[in-house]
Amino acid sequence: MPLFSKSEETAVDFDHLPRHIAIIMDGNGRWARSRGLPRTAGHAAGAETFRTIAVYCKEIGIQYLTVYAFSTENWKRPAEEVSAIMDLLRKYLLEAIEKMERDRVKMRFFGDLSPLPDELRDLCLRTEEISTHYEGCQVNICLNYGGRDEILRAAQNFAAQCAAGKRIPQELTEELFSRGLWSAGIPDPDLVIRPGGEERVSNFLLWQSAYAEYYFTKVNWPDFSKEELRKALCAYQSRQRRYGGI
Ligand code: IPE
Ligand code: IPE
Ligand code: MG
Repeated sequence: MPLFSKSEETAVDFDHLPRHIAIIMDGNGRWARSRGLPRTAGHAAGAETFRTIAVYCKEIGIQYLTVYAFSTENWKRPAEEVSAIMDLLRKYLLEAIEKMERDRVKMRFFGDLSPLPDELRDLCLRTEEISTHYEGCQVNICLNYGGRDEILRAAQNFAAQCAAGKRIPQELTEELFSRGLWSAGIPDPDLVIRPGGEERVSNFLLWQSAYAEYYFTKVNWPDFSKEELRKALCAYQSRQRRYGGI
């Protein structure tokens, strides 16, 4: 069955897809406001979009999908909004665990989980543990994640190893440093998508995105559909990646 058939749909070359897609899932609040709904309704709708897009990425053969769910800065939001987001994550993981054997998606979490509510943190760890041997598609959820926080932690760890006499500063290479990040062992994102209309990075995958292609769209995350993803993939496929060469 062709993955696209109608002529008005966007023609993606499914044989040359990015290996790793990262998404800043933004615009939930504005989506809700434009409908006269509370912001939390936007987060609930955003969670549905995540389900749809994650399944589609798996179907078309994307190997890694990394999504920004909650940043180290998002704690600044009103307590009720933060707890509504945590509750949605809890619900999502409970459901994901139930369907895990069927979906066989490997799930990982990037970020310090220790400040999360106990139940949510335990669910994250359980999800990682159950799915650890699944192969094919890996979904990384950035939760209490910040690019600067991640880099600082890696630097502190390396410095501590030096202080303990286990390493010397001259040993540090990009490759070794990368191994100290949450994303250790995972290829860098090829394509970073930001819905919601903002054209900024907001502390997402700062180290890993050094040569990523960016795609920005005004569509808010709850309205981001498979067709929107195909548009992003087409844009990606029209780019020429030079990595500093000619
Ligand atoms: C993204 O949507 C979700 C999180 C940051 C948790 P927002 O809540 O930032 O939505 P806008 O940007 O206010 O529309
Ligand atoms: C980035 O969105 C974080 C997530 C999507 C989880 P924000 O809404 O927090 O980013 P800013 O505040 O507009 O930069
Ligand atoms: Mg936002």
